[in-house]
Amino acid sequence: MTGTNTTPAAAQDTDDPAADAGSLLNMLAGAATVQILHAVVDLNIADHLADGARTAKDVAWREGSDERATFRLMRAAASLGVLSYEGSGGFALTGQGRMLRSGVPGSLRSMVLIQAGQSHWQPWGLFPDAVRQGRSQAKEALGVDVFDFYARPENAERARLFSEAMGDMAAMVTRGVLAEADTRGLSTVLDVGGADGHLVLALMEADPALRGQVLDLPHAVQGAVREAERRGLADRFSGVAGDFFVDVPAADLYLLKTVLHDWDDERCVTILRNCRSATRAGGRALVVEMIVGEIGKPDFATISDMAMLCVTGGIERDLDEFDSLFEATGWRRGRTYPVGGGYHGLELEAV
Ligand SMILES: C[S@@+](CC[C@H](N)C(=O)[O-])C[C@H]1O[C@@H](n2cnc3c(N)ncnc32)[C@H](O)[C@@H]1O
Repeated sequence: MTGTNTTPAAAQDTDDPAADAGSLLNMLAGAATVQILHAVVDLNIADHLADGARTAKDVAWREGSDERATFRLMRAAASLGVLSYEGSGGFALTGQGRMLRSGVPGSLRSMVLIQAGQSHWQPWGLFPDAVRQGRSQAKEALGVDVFDFYARPENAERARLFSEAMGDMAAMVTRGVLAEADTRGLSTVLDVGGADGHLVLALMEADPALRGQVLDLPHAVQGAVREAERRGLADRFSGVAGDFFVDVPAADLYLLKTVLHDWDDERCVTILRNCRSATRAGGRALVVEMIVGEIGKPDFATISDMAMLCVTGGIERDLDEFDSLFEATGWRRGRTYPVGGGYHGLELEAV
């Protein structure tokens, strides 16, 4: 394998088979890269290096891991730019490595553990079948759909990590949403499939008149209640354990952040209809999602779309596809704006 090269393949098109093979091998190294990050996080290397450089021997002693394998891992991580080599066997964190520490704002530690761990990685192993069949391979790989997998008591820690990862990702868009969304005159906001509730809680912090709720599956909703307590917002907040395919409580504003992308069109229609039936004409929703752009341009949304196909059975959509869903369910799209991290806010009004 050659070193990581992030230049889009089309930009390096050549008639040189060796160069083409080299750039394909770089793409293939993506799988190894994911698992290198996985091991760096799983062995808590970023946390061990938080106060300064350490040798692989020291890290291996702290983790009880194999010394030589730990050195080889740290060397590979330094090759990727996640660690830097400081000489005399010492490795330190780079800016990217610092984002893998636990408990720091915007940490991607939980996201790595989710993306590289069983719930996502095993379905990826069956990805060609997802394309042949046009559906998620979670059932084949895990025995159940991915959200049912998280709901199993034996996967409670993985479910907690998933919600934590969602919260960390929410941090990327919170400032953008707060700058654009107008909650004046609203009394209740419902975060639909809100996980730990970071988005609705941020809106409540910004607007002391607002009452907030998170609707999520029974295993997930307690995380939101705990987060509301931690932020001192429990008196204006409640968690609703439920199923958004069955029933959605009434609210003035529905937040749907990275929920529609988990589902096919039919399931999205049910979620959006349930929100629409529970609100009045003029009621609002804010969808936060990536929007697929022009075909043929580098576009992370199209890569995420493959993960959705494979793992949850969902879809990343372009604006026309979103509008078809909104029109079919009694919503009209208004202001649409970037909110950070490649995500957009799509404001909806109930018609
Ligand atoms: C991709 S996560 C998004 C979480 C959150 N909105 C965010 O972006 O940070 C999808 C969420 O939908 C929840 N969910 C899945 N199926 C659900 C259902 N049938 N009813 C309610 N929530 C559900 C999951 O538990 C999870 O918290």
